Amino acid sequence: MNDESATIVVGSDHAGFEMKEFVKNYLSEKGYLYIDIGAPQEDPSDDYPVFAFKLAKTVSTNKYKRGILMCGTGIGASIAANRIKGVRAALCTSPEMAKMARAHNDSNVLVIGGRTTEKETAGRIIDAWLNGKFEGGRHQKRISLLDTDHI
Ligand code: RB5
Repeated sequence: MNDESATIVVGSDHAGFEMKEFVKNYLSEKGYLYIDIGAPQEDPSDDYPVFAFKLAKTVSTNKYKRGILMCGTGIGASIAANRIKGVRAALCTSPEMAKMARAHNDSNVLVIGGRTTEKETAGRIIDAWLNGKFEGGRHQKRISLLDTDHI
């Protein structure tokens, strides 16, 4: 892939650090390019909102269209990422959820629990998410409503 926007942004706090290393290797093996926005090392004092906001802001610019984000459970990271307008972060625990996160939600950030998801499952979640296709139509209308606050 030569299109720079296809480069996948990866990020995590300390609790997702090990999974982030796995994800980077996995993406490389599959021929995807990535950039790592941190954490640069496993520092137990670091805070997931810092990395979630950094990744989400990077994806929201549309320079890069997709991100994969980790924390211990994926919960805090997804709460934080979804505060950034234009970001649709989906915490997925199965390939089925990942497929639907693309098909119905046009998710642009995949969130994985580093301490709650087996690596073999994470690989299948990533495959399903990266290969998933947004269905558009009625789902386009619904995701457009996400960016309004006066329903
Ligand atoms: C860090 O200990 C942990 O709380 C964090 O990674 C995440 O799981 C929060 O939701």
